Amino acid sequence: MKLKSILQNRFCISVSVLLIGFIGFGQKKIKPKAEFVSELMAKMTVDEKIYQLVQFSSDGTITGPKQGENYITRIEQGKVGSVLNAYGAENTRKIQEINMKNSRLKIPLLFGFDVIHGYKTIFPINLAMASSFDPSAVELAAKVAAAEASSAGVHWTFAPMVDIARDARWGRISEGSGEDTYLGIQMAKANVRGFQGSDFSKANTVLACAKHFAAYGAAESGRDYNTVDMSERVLRETYLPPFKAATEAGVKTFMASFNEISGVPSTANKHLLRNILKGEWNFDGMVVSDYTGVNEMIAHGFAKNDQDAAQLAINAGLDMDMVGATFMTTLKKSYDEGKVSIETINDACKRVLDVKYDLGLFEDPYRYSDAKREKETIYKPEFLEASLEVAKKSIVLLKNDRNVLPLKKEQKIAFVGPLCEDDYHIIGSWAALGDRQGYAVSVKEGVQKLLGNSAKVTFDKGVEIEGNKRDGLQQALDNAKNADVIVAVMGELENMSGEAASRTNLDLPGIQKEFLMELKKLGKPIVLVLMNGRPLTLSWEDQNIDAILETWWTGTRGGDAIAQTLFGQNNPSAKLPVSFPRNVGQLPLYYNAKNTGRPYLGPKDPEQRFKSRYLDVDNSALYPFGYGLSYTTFAYSDLKLSSNKIGFGQKLAISVTVSNTGNYDGVETVQLYVKDEVGSVTRPVRELKGFQKVALKKGEKKTVSFELTSDDLRFYGLDMKFSAEAGDFSVFVGGSSTADLNAKFELAE
Ligand code: GLC
Repeated sequence: MKLKSILQNRFCISVSVLLIGFIGFGQKKIKPKAEFVSELMAKMTVDEKIYQLVQFSSDGTITGPKQGENYITRIEQGKVGSVLNAYGAENTRKIQEINMKNSRLKIPLLFGFDVIHGYKTIFPINLAMASSFDPSAVELAAKVAAAEASSAGVHWTFAPMVDIARDARWGRISEGSGEDTYLGIQMAKANVRGFQGSDFSKANTVLACAKHFAAYGAAESGRDYNTVDMSERVLRETYLPPFKAATEAGVKTFMASFNEISGVPSTANKHLLRNILKGEWNFDGMVVSDYTGVNEMIAHGFAKNDQDAAQLAINAGLDMDMVGATFMTTLKKSYDEGKVSIETINDACKRVLDVKYDLGLFEDPYRYSDAKREKETIYKPEFLEASLEVAKKSIVLLKNDRNVLPLKKEQKIAFVGPLCEDDYHIIGSWAALGDRQGYAVSVKEGVQKLLGNSAKVTFDKGVEIEGNKRDGLQQALDNAKNADVIVAVMGELENMSGEAASRTNLDLPGIQKEFLMELKKLGKPIVLVLMNGRPLTLSWEDQNIDAILETWWTGTRGGDAIAQTLFGQNNPSAKLPVSFPRNVGQLPLYYNAKNTGRPYLGPKDPEQRFKSRYLDVDNSALYPFGYGLSYTTFAYSDLKLSSNKIGFGQKLAISVTVSNTGNYDGVETVQLYVKDEVGSVTRPVRELKGFQKVALKKGEKKTVSFELTSDDLRFYGLDMKFSAEAGDFSVFVGGSSTADLNAKFELAE
């Protein structure tokens, strides 16, 4: 017996030694990055270096104007460094095999794709996730997206979109984290952490991409791709910080934006790309253009032709040409003509090879293209649960008169509206490979799952989202007439926000508002459930509808999240990351505006005429930044500062008591705002400097603390130095940007 066990042990040991040896041998050990990349580049021709800077789209999801010659042909010619819109373990493996067969030096392709709020398991749109004011929720969503995408051959996502947006006419406000820089910074870092993780050698993470650099959201009139013109101060104080935060979080790539800034397109903006990003911020990653952004500089009137555009771009610090074919067809000529140096080409090529090395592609070009892992990873139950949990945190309660919400299961409820049965639009735009019809959970499915078939509920669309078809109206009204409460599920089409989706009329589209007016005549309590990708103008609804839930686009489990919120299993806790205007004429509209020399104090202002105001609408937002209700109520008291004076570098402790004064357990987002009373340049009326979510059982109270130092008070003064200035400050603490509980302190030299 003993001999046998000894032999068995010896056999196991020798097998495991062999196995370790084989695995070790199997995974070709390569030299450290700097050495490996420089040795590789030493073997590369100028053409081969240029081809690393070339990206083409596969035949997958096209996200811009269709381009000419087939990308496979170009790969066979060894002229491609990266492919976007290719996904799927088998598909990417096949494309990589073509490349590796034709690449003289066996340099792998880099696969990029827009995985913005999920790959297959779709999370709420980013504007919705920003409403959660919960960076950990955003990080979780990015982590799940990376796990699914990387299992399907995707190496690189073109996310997070970190553009600050203050104009709801701009459709891409849906893709970012709203109007506030501080919130934008937190969400940018959370996204990068989620997508990239802390160790690239792990195959369940992807390269992130901070986009669109920069100030794309400041397009004049909210019209996509339009001109941006702003001071260096506004650029640096409002629009750049989330990008800087992304670099500090280790983001490996950037995407240049389509727009110009004060006359210079970002794609060839040396000040932006070389001076700030690669200079001041010391960014060692790679910058890709947006889709044909290089070519478009001809239309901008900034370049004469493709060759001019390409040499301007690469000399300004752009490293990769997305789809435009300008680097592929003209850079060698520019090099031969001395317009582009070998140092510039080497720098760009090195940056591309570095990220390929980081991903482990030189060791194994197919490590992300593993069909078995893809099958095991996509739609994991825990991913779908995560999507539901994040969606529940992203729903904003805007109004709840007479506590119409939460609904009761025994009520007779008429669900109406074009989106009450929708399982297509609910996952929003930029939804990668998210399954829509038949997979995403609609409100109808969510309600039926929750209530079972015993429920007395009806579902009637009544009208469409756009157009004025009325053939379903009467049936909907008849069912509504017999109900105890009406739930109208209305909003936009998913493609009414997102890219190339600017709108000038932000009322509910089509005849939805007219339908609401008909429902109103029935004299029943009405709940409006909104599904939309941007703030809408809701003045009539605010005056006439009892309860309003802003759900944005809630993703694959959206219907479950909305149903659980409507019936109270989920107490809404989200806050608005963007201001809702009273009408579109107020835009751009944002809470952290300047006071002006003639600030209008509203109806109580003794001077009603010669003030900075409109004759037809109040200056304030209908629903302000940071606003959101709960099924319970919260009260703030005992705001205390550790001192009424601090020196530079000294800490100021701030504490406040928050009480749950209602009948439901709930979560409040406690917000800290600061006003710099006087500066060497004018300062905003207040700025968000901190937020904390606090869970409170009914009747419970807690003390919430914040800390400030002079570093938190810095801005670009008259001398354009980023520093704090001595003087008087006010702090405001509360549940929205209109919080009035305040205290004062002095920052003294
Ligand atoms: C699009 C978008 C950008 C996206 C890129 C690739 O035009 O502007 O956000 O990442 O093309 O699809």
